[in-house]
Amino acid sequence: MKIGNVEIKGHAALSPMAGITDKAYREICIQCGAAYTVTEMISSKGLTMKDRKSHLLMEIGENEFPVFIQIFGREPDTMALAAKKAEATGCTGIDINMGCPAPKVAGHGAGAALMKEPELAAEIVNKVSNAVAVPVTCKIRSGWDENSVNAAEVARLLEQAGAAAITVHGRTRKQMYAPPVNYEIIKKVKENVNIPVIGNGDITDIHSALYMYEQTGCDFAAIGRGAMGNPFIFEQINRYFETGEIMAPPTVEERMNMMINHIEKLCLLKGNYIGMREARKHAGWYIKGIRGAAAFRRETGALETMDQLKELAEKVIMQSKED
Ligand SMILES: Cc1cc2nc3c(=O)[nH]c(=O)nc-3n(C[C@H](O)[C@H](O)[C@H](O)COP(=O)(O)O)c2cc1C
Repeated sequence: MKIGNVEIKGHAALSPMAGITDKAYREICIQCGAAYTVTEMISSKGLTMKDRKSHLLMEIGENEFPVFIQIFGREPDTMALAAKKAEATGCTGIDINMGCPAPKVAGHGAGAALMKEPELAAEIVNKVSNAVAVPVTCKIRSGWDENSVNAAEVARLLEQAGAAAITVHGRTRKQMYAPPVNYEIIKKVKENVNIPVIGNGDITDIHSALYMYEQTGCDFAAIGRGAMGNPFIFEQINRYFETGEIMAPPTVEERMNMMINHIEKLCLLKGNYIGMREARKHAGWYIKGIRGAAAFRRETGALETMDQLKELAEKVIMQSKED
């Protein structure tokens, strides 16, 4: 499957998540078989105003390709300028956020609010795709609310404006992250455009990935929350689609080794202080569901050093072996 002129292998991509899909985690997910990754959303204004934090979010490593840089905003010229800056990093492509429901984004007419202004959304895609040589993709929602489920029409306009692929999160802005996922609208988008469509929403394992593919006919799946503490999901899905094999779930040792590997990368990227603070939420996800691990919840919330993390991993492994 190609997005623009870029060949994409694999079956499931890492969906962008602010505060989670940083360089460290993107690398981990690519190693685990993610078809491609997307950065956290980055403000187009921040990029054009030389904001340091926005530029840091845009740093990409050589071990995380293919990688799309996601930008948000509502001013076509600013978005085009930001996209040019993003392109200069050597990224695979630019993704435009048309799905963020947060008041700080949608409340200012960007993110999911663009679903209410399809012409403006198309103008942004037109300006951005004319400004850069790399493929430009869009991430949309099913619509703004239940009375305006317009993803199929919006997707058509975005394709005509130059989008190379569309990711559809099958929920309205009003739903935020609440069930259900609207598979029917993702299917309609797929029927309405000739570019790849990426289905997104509530994929947590092979079965839900299969369900997304079967219900919608999408070309790829994108996984957000289902990949938290669970980068193994990408290889599991790839293996199933390529051989029909359902892989055994990772062992507790494998999960703990992955957690340590991830947090080491995180600390290297952000320094020990910030790295270990951010490690707390990741550690909670990595130990979730492991027998006896609930007892260690408090410890994950107080992690300060790599040694503590390694000790915790040992204890989780020991505990899981006890009857
Ligand atoms: C904590 C968090 C942060 C997110 N940040 C972004 C973001 O920066 N850009 C974006 O397009 N979507 C963002 N999303 C939405 C996800 O990419 C995805 O569309 C949504 O979570 C539904 O997929 P899932 O059910 O697989 O999680 C975020 C979701 C979560 C939970």
